[in-house]
Amino acid sequence: MNYFRSNITAMTGYVPGEQPQGTKLVKLNTNENPYDCAPKVKAAIGHAVQAGLQKYPDPTATAFRQQAGELLGVDPDWILCGNGSDDILTIITRALVDSGDVIRYPNPSYVLYKTLAEIQGAECDVVEFQPDWSLGEAFTAPRERLKLAYLANPNSPSGTVISPDDVARIADQLPCPLLVDEAYADFSETNCLGLVAKNEKVMVSRSLSKSYALAGLRFGFLIAQPQLIEQFAKVKDSYNCDAMAIAGATAAIGDQQWFQQTRSSIIATRGRLEAELTRLGFECVPSQANFVWCNHPDHPAESLYQQLKEGGVLVRYMSYPNWNDGLRVTVGTDQQIDAFLTILTGLLA
Ligand SMILES: Cc1ncc(COP(=O)(O)O)c(C=O)c1O
Repeated sequence: MNYFRSNITAMTGYVPGEQPQGTKLVKLNTNENPYDCAPKVKAAIGHAVQAGLQKYPDPTATAFRQQAGELLGVDPDWILCGNGSDDILTIITRALVDSGDVIRYPNPSYVLYKTLAEIQGAECDVVEFQPDWSLGEAFTAPRERLKLAYLANPNSPSGTVISPDDVARIADQLPCPLLVDEAYADFSETNCLGLVAKNEKVMVSRSLSKSYALAGLRFGFLIAQPQLIEQFAKVKDSYNCDAMAIAGATAAIGDQQWFQQTRSSIIATRGRLEAELTRLGFECVPSQANFVWCNHPDHPAESLYQQLKEGGVLVRYMSYPNWNDGLRVTVGTDQQIDAFLTILTGLLA
């Protein structure tokens, strides 16, 4: 069988975190929001269904872009909507990167970046984070055929943030566009939205999967200068966001009270989780996201992951080249985190 482009047969393909269906596991492995979405979201999706689905949806999700534009203080022409922010990453990569070009991203970070580069037949220029999770000069160094850099900020799995000032400097020095992947920025004290107007090369992607509890709906968006949005729009599927997703996502960002309430709960529980993990002897990286990255000097992460799973709690075990492996624990409800800590305490005894 040799129908496929050689880079497709050569690549492994992205493996998403486990999504066990119909089990009673406490699920703390893929950074979902532990709270249900706002009731207004379900009502809006219901109305979209009632209105009938026989017509194609608005190809540019105008209602969402207007609402998001008001919320974020940007013109709707600066927004492109996607079927999750992964779709945004795909569109950008397809539009900017040719076979043989180079894509730069840090390690450890979001594993999908490698897959996107491989699909494109591009070369990966992987720059190691410094031990303090900052980025050194290698991240901005000139390189031939460098066409795109990705930066998850907050980063996954560390939950750490590079300050907007530092990102501005990185973007100024980089010879190519920089996609600041802000899937977790709603849980952070800072974000890079303000850089988009100042530098054409800065693009910011956002997700409704985590902070708005809509991972199952699939909705994300990009904020970039309109001359870039115009080009990216040529690459996307004509109807990449369905009518229910547009209605639900618009209602979600329209209910900031629900958003602020659940966000505050998650941030409070995150603090408690970090404190308890530290008390149990884990090394934890202070997180600005809805998860905590940790490992224990005396207990291998992989066996803890396995034992936790047997005890009914699913966390994410991750290992990266050149780095210690570890556990990434999503911030759940207080009850879920209590269940996790109870089992963990037993395992360490
Ligand atoms: C860093 C990062 N970016 C983007 C995404 C994709 O999010 P979605 O496609 O659900 O919006 C994820 C999901 O886990 C992520 O961790």
